[in-house]
Amino acid sequence: MKVCVVGQGGREHAFASVLRRTAEVVVTPGNAGIEGSISTSPEETEADLFVIGPEGPLADGLADRLRADGRLVFGPGADGAALESSKAWMKEVVSAAGVPTAAYATFDSDPAGHRAAHAYLETLPPPYVIKTSGLAAGKGVLVTDELAQAHADVDAKLDGTSFGDAGRSIVIEEGMVGPEVSLFALCDGRRATLLPTAVRDHKRIGDGDTGPNTGGMGCVSPLADVDRAACAELAALAFEPTLTELTRRRVDYRGVLYAGFMLTPDGPRLLEFNVRFGDPEAQVALPRIENDLALLLAGAAAGELTDEIRISDDAMVCVVCAAEGYPAAPRTGDVITGLDRARGVPGVTVFCAGVGAGDGQTVPSASLVTGGGRVLNVCGRGPDVAVARDRAYEAVRQLHWPGMTYRTDIAAAEATAAAVSR
Ligand code: AMP
Ligand code: GLY
Repeated sequence: MKVCVVGQGGREHAFASVLRRTAEVVVTPGNAGIEGSISTSPEETEADLFVIGPEGPLADGLADRLRADGRLVFGPGADGAALESSKAWMKEVVSAAGVPTAAYATFDSDPAGHRAAHAYLETLPPPYVIKTSGLAAGKGVLVTDELAQAHADVDAKLDGTSFGDAGRSIVIEEGMVGPEVSLFALCDGRRATLLPTAVRDHKRIGDGDTGPNTGGMGCVSPLADVDRAACAELAALAFEPTLTELTRRRVDYRGVLYAGFMLTPDGPRLLEFNVRFGDPEAQVALPRIENDLALLLAGAAAGELTDEIRISDDAMVCVVCAAEGYPAAPRTGDVITGLDRARGVPGVTVFCAGVGAGDGQTVPSASLVTGGGRVLNVCGRGPDVAVARDRAYEAVRQLHWPGMTYRTDIAAAEATAAAVSR
């Protein structure tokens, strides 16, 4: 089978490397660190299966266009992708489906919407949670205890000054507290099949969960506090009712559904749905899948997902190495050294996320420079989280470029919890 992966980050590198176990793989556009990267558009590429990584092209209807041309596609159409590109619609769907989620209200940018949003804030206790309804690369959510900051954020979003059109419709939510966990299910339009492992992302830029939200600075799987039985319970709470509700609305959802939960003292609550694999969550989930991934995704794309997903008990930890200035203004063009040494650490895989070719246009390039905010995803694998974590950080220490930054506490709590639960 020939598979065309669409996208250009670490998630797509992980897709390509796992799919390549059983299939021929090209990646469009890919990047200078991903073998098989091609410059032709998906529409111009011949392949037996298209796997679309990021939310942007999905929301933009790429899956619809490819399907209209008779191609087999893993990824929802624009209708289903609205679960992520319109948080207002997502909240309506999951509320109709009976999925437990934070109380909320939505507001538009007209004068009445502004007034109603400010008035609604006044009725809520802190923390205040204000979300752009549209896509904002994981950065459109403000959680704050300061009411004045919440009011200012409502104005900046609705005015379009902070997130352009993505913020002209907002969702204000009840603030919740608790640990977070992400789960993934493959959907074939009728059924949702769970990837039976929980993943925890670390979204803030700084150690100790400080500083601004990012696309994700590292993650870990599995989790001692969310075992396989707990995964199945969360899945039953969210995936099945949502797929039933989507079917009722004539949405034929074929692709991955990513559910982010908060485990609150009152029980689990759905925070968000994404319509694609998480990045970097995919990097610690996909390599542990023991099925033939190409067959699995092709089955979902064809509406015939029958297999259970088998996943290794191994742990994986991913540490994101980022460019100086990320997330506000990452600097690019710095020369990356130590990649071969990092890849030589046993149990380590390094996926290329935001890189450019150091030697001109060659792809894959022997020498790489930084080319984006999140540059490399350093993944350690081992029999438990502590070993996986040690391996990942051992490899991180081999890498260098001017201004390279990373969190030093990825999976620290989970490694301790795993040790205690043994
Ligand atoms: P989202 O993109 O909706 O997952 O939100 C990004 C992050 O904001 C989440 O991972 C949470 O850490 C936080 N967040 C979102 N919604 C809430 C909420 N209702 N209460 C508290 N924190 C939240
Ligand atoms: N890492 C968070 C996301 O992919 O949305």
